[in-house]
Amino acid sequence: MQMENSKFQQMIDDFTLDSDAIKEIAASFRYDIEHGVRETGESSLRMLKSYIGLPTGKEQGEYLALDFGGTNLRVVLIRLEGDGKFEVLKKVAKPLVKPGEYDFICADANADELFDFIADMVEEAIDGNRDKKYLLGHTFSFPSSQTNIYNARLIIWTKEFATKGVEGEVVNDLLKAALARKNLTNVEPTAVINDTVAVLLAAAYKLGNVNVGSIYATGHNTCYYETYTTAGLGKPAMVINMESGGFNKLAINKYDYKLDMESEKPYEQRLEKMVSGRYMGELLSYCLDDAWHTGKLPFTSIDISTILADNSDNLADVCKLLQEKTGLAVETEDAVWVKALAETIACRSARVVVATYCGIMWHLYPQGDIPKQYIAVDGSVFEKMPTVKDNMQKAIYEIMEEDADKLELVLENGGSALGAALAAAMKPVEG
Ligand code: GLC
Repeated sequence: MQMENSKFQQMIDDFTLDSDAIKEIAASFRYDIEHGVRETGESSLRMLKSYIGLPTGKEQGEYLALDFGGTNLRVVLIRLEGDGKFEVLKKVAKPLVKPGEYDFICADANADELFDFIADMVEEAIDGNRDKKYLLGHTFSFPSSQTNIYNARLIIWTKEFATKGVEGEVVNDLLKAALARKNLTNVEPTAVINDTVAVLLAAAYKLGNVNVGSIYATGHNTCYYETYTTAGLGKPAMVINMESGGFNKLAINKYDYKLDMESEKPYEQRLEKMVSGRYMGELLSYCLDDAWHTGKLPFTSIDISTILADNSDNLADVCKLLQEKTGLAVETEDAVWVKALAETIACRSARVVVATYCGIMWHLYPQGDIPKQYIAVDGSVFEKMPTVKDNMQKAIYEIMEEDADKLELVLENGGSALGAALAAAMKPVEG
């Protein structure tokens, strides 16, 4: 049977963003940062205060780090050695969902079940030691409103998490209560940070010369170090978690719209739904349904990576994957269209993400005197999805032109745990 491919060109056009479009996104993102910093109420960015600055690189000591932000949970015992060095002494990692066994992130799970599971992992990480005192840094990668470094209240679940009884709560209180239920009162949660903040702290500890930390993975979000000097507001300098995935001044196409309407939280996280690993496969699935009437298929961003990685003449891997997923007799000429579409979805994602980084630079250096610096990024999409880094680099040149050489994207791998340990070790910012 011949496949119907007439819709693909239109879909590719729908996902294409030219240079002017990404420059406009950078400018309107900057606008929202400026308004967020001044708290005018006009910004779609949450601009959450983190009550922490940048590390000196000299931090030392042994800390527990809890990394809670995706489908895998990690508890790590880390020794900070100063000079940007550290050692992982013990690591416990477990998925939050084991099909057929348990699922702590669905709407049927509750806060106590989730945090008891976490407390068990903490116990394992310290070999059941109930005598030694441990300070725990917690990387909690969801929008939380903070009043100090400890007190972080979950505003809203993102990334399709749905556990009951956590939204609106102080997450470290839930953790403390679970630790107390297990008689682990020697473990003291002291600091909560977002994963973007953890990436920034980790990169600043190891490399220095970095003001922006970003996650480009299941979810997407960016933070930066705000000195409040350009805004002339005289507030204490600290890292701001923008929750940039919630930026909503973006033109969306009909597939973005459909995805949004069928998500756990319609109208929330518009930018994230266009760019992050949790959603790119779904966008492709809605497109294939439109073209080939396949219904909604379980495509993931790993499938997109597989498609992008096939550079053979007959696209054998793409054909095989599509046949498995759709049950249709997909041939090379069909696969060519799907690959072109997947490339465009991934390319749009990379370009939108970079536009937000450039918006931050324009905010930080309004006179245009951008100093050379790193932008620290962690996450599977950045690290592993073919074409993404190249497209990001290209977009930096298109937007920043002669300033492009000032910015170097650097992979900060696994910064979540190191960042949490640093947050526990650092003196918080009051304010
Ligand atoms: C989601 C969360 C955000 C987190 C990001 C990356 O956007 O809301 O807090 O930083 O995912 O994990």
